[in-house]
Amino acid sequence: MKIYNIISILVVSLGVLSGTAASAEPVVIKFSHVVAENTPKGQAALKFKELAEKYLPGKVSVEVFPNSQLFGDGKEMEALLLGDVQIVAPSLAKFGKYTKKLQIFDLPFLFDDIHAVDRFQNSAKGQELLNSMEGKGLIGLGFLHNGMKQLSANVPLRTPADAKGLKFRIQSSDVLEAQFKAVGGNPQKIAFAEVYQALQSGVVDGTENPWSNTYTKKFYEVQKYITESDHGVLDYMVVTNEKWWKGLPEDVRKGLSKAMTEAIAFGNKIALTEDEDYRAKVVEAKKAEVIKLNKSEKEAWRNAMKPVWAQFEPEIGKDLIDAALQANEEPVAAKPAKHKKK
Ligand code: LMR
Repeated sequence: MKIYNIISILVVSLGVLSGTAASAEPVVIKFSHVVAENTPKGQAALKFKELAEKYLPGKVSVEVFPNSQLFGDGKEMEALLLGDVQIVAPSLAKFGKYTKKLQIFDLPFLFDDIHAVDRFQNSAKGQELLNSMEGKGLIGLGFLHNGMKQLSANVPLRTPADAKGLKFRIQSSDVLEAQFKAVGGNPQKIAFAEVYQALQSGVVDGTENPWSNTYTKKFYEVQKYITESDHGVLDYMVVTNEKWWKGLPEDVRKGLSKAMTEAIAFGNKIALTEDEDYRAKVVEAKKAEVIKLNKSEKEAWRNAMKPVWAQFEPEIGKDLIDAALQANEEPVAAKPAKHKKK
């Protein structure tokens, strides 16, 4: 009897101990993305790792997989929903399967610049978009900038007519497909990891991307001309699996939210301040000629592409488009109150 009791106590204690050990295991968080580490998204992901592990010591372990190493376009969202990764940050052009609302970001010439995009994302309408996929098991943790897109090709693109008959690589977005069709181009959806090869081998003649991607993926080596068109934006939404996120202990979720907010601010700062540096590096490399557009040349591209807005307005909603246009207006700085003469 005595021995039996001792054994039972030992068994129970071991169970408790192993249970304690199990619960002390850090939560492993895989963050997968498709770009290089020296981009705004690559840097934000690494900052998130640093901060999450600092705020939640021993409780979380963050693994970052850049350059489509773990999952590329098309697979990363599925992997997120299956729980194979916990955080991804696809371009806003890649959510078409889950919501039509985010198509707003692909409308050509909608935003005047990245600051207008920033104002829209931070507006009430913009913030609502973070929850636009909750029914699909996805939650947005925040928007992250990359930058305005530039057109590129192996022939100079000065007027919309120059794009006629050319094959353009696009992200998986119906709006971007319509945008290139509007100028007589032949758009092809190709995963980011295959773009260099597609440009090099002539599968496509041209593409569009912000300076950071053009520089870090060396697209300038395989494109003769880059037109400074700033015709659209390429930004991201950092997303997580709703079920996983809501199932985390509250302190962990809070720590991760804080780390993510700060990591996004860090990435956004790089996007806003270093866009010009990425451009300068492409120019310095002297492989592709950079074409500047004057006001009327830019207007011609805008006029040719703008019909796309009306085409997608029923899916996106006029209210959202109006809010985006509103964001182009600089907020008027509050005037200092006048002192009344006594
Ligand atoms: C692209 O496919 O061109 C971009 O979405 C890649 C990225 O994540 O910036």
